Amino acid sequence: MVETARRASRRRTRLPPGSGRSLLGWFTGHRRPLPWRRNRDPYHIWVAEVLLQQTRVEQAVPYYERFILRFPTIRALAVAPVGEVLKVWQGAGYYARARHLHAAARELAARHGGELPHSVNELEELPGVGPYIARAIASFAFGAPYIALEANGLRVAARYTLDTGDVRRAAVRARLERALAATMPTGAAAQFNEAIMELGETVCCPVAPRCEECPLGGSCRAYRELEDPGSLPRRAAPKRRPHVRGAVVVLRQGDRWFVQRRAPTGLLGGLWEFPGGKIGLSETPEGAARRELREETGFVAGPLRHRGVVRHGYSHFTVELHVFEGTPRDRPRPRVAPGRRWVTRSQLLRLPIPKATEKIIRLLTPEAKDTTSPG
Ligand code: ADE
Repeated sequence: MVETARRASRRRTRLPPGSGRSLLGWFTGHRRPLPWRRNRDPYHIWVAEVLLQQTRVEQAVPYYERFILRFPTIRALAVAPVGEVLKVWQGAGYYARARHLHAAARELAARHGGELPHSVNELEELPGVGPYIARAIASFAFGAPYIALEANGLRVAARYTLDTGDVRRAAVRARLERALAATMPTGAAAQFNEAIMELGETVCCPVAPRCEECPLGGSCRAYRELEDPGSLPRRAAPKRRPHVRGAVVVLRQGDRWFVQRRAPTGLLGGLWEFPGGKIGLSETPEGAARRELREETGFVAGPLRHRGVVRHGYSHFTVELHVFEGTPRDRPRPRVAPGRRWVTRSQLLRLPIPKATEKIIRLLTPEAKDTTSPG
């Protein structure tokens, strides 16, 4: 008999009873003492989940500690200037996350008495809060019976149910959520969701999963039926990151450097940096440096000295920045525009700056030891 798609899907999602309990039992003995697990404060959980969206646990810990120390409550975050929030976030990357947290905190302080709402729908209306974070907050902080699946949880669920679908598709995610919901013990949403993530991070790893240590081993379909359970979920071939060549001008007057703030949104939005930009195909690095300086600031530099090359890898591209140093050819008119400043080195280190700018500062002043990011 030919199996219908519906029946095949039901077969796929029927999971052995009791697997949820085995998972919780395992979690009790293997739960790592992570700082965001110290309490169930909804705001602390929210900050952690935002950080963990694009940052691995070990990397996220120092950023989380620093952020919560400086902004322990929603109100503390709401009253801070955005520049300070970016400064505290500096080094964690994906700065839109910090800008959204800040905007959402302001909204909550203005309209919700500085508290996070309990309902998933209301949570999802906040800037930067998508379905996963809303469900994570609702289940971890308020015990609501939602399945919250991020990348680790999706991987565990896809292997457990032998689902070969693309986990980036909403229909596949919904199917995996339904499958897990069927095994979630009543009243244990928070522990269950966290246990799934913990399993994904420590045992059901992206490559070379440690199936012998898995509390679900016997009932995991990928383990039972695939030669390599690590082949699920199917991964798209990684894209090559394009390489960008850029030129930067460190314009100096005495002990001050000219810096400007990037546009408030978009890549590295709101961070401060030296003027510069891409080197055109037919340009020399110095030609590009002079052109960018003139176009972005109106300044014309005198002789420029090549100080070296700084390399940095962003998530979607890599850059090499040719760093030039010089002084303005004419006496610069004082510029009081809000996004432009002449700053000393220590003043610049107090502003939010990209990693590449940190590297440029180190190139210019190799003898100094201070850094600003915890990572
Ligand atoms: N990854 C995403 N959220 C997490 C959490 N709360 N604990 C550990 N890892 C996570």
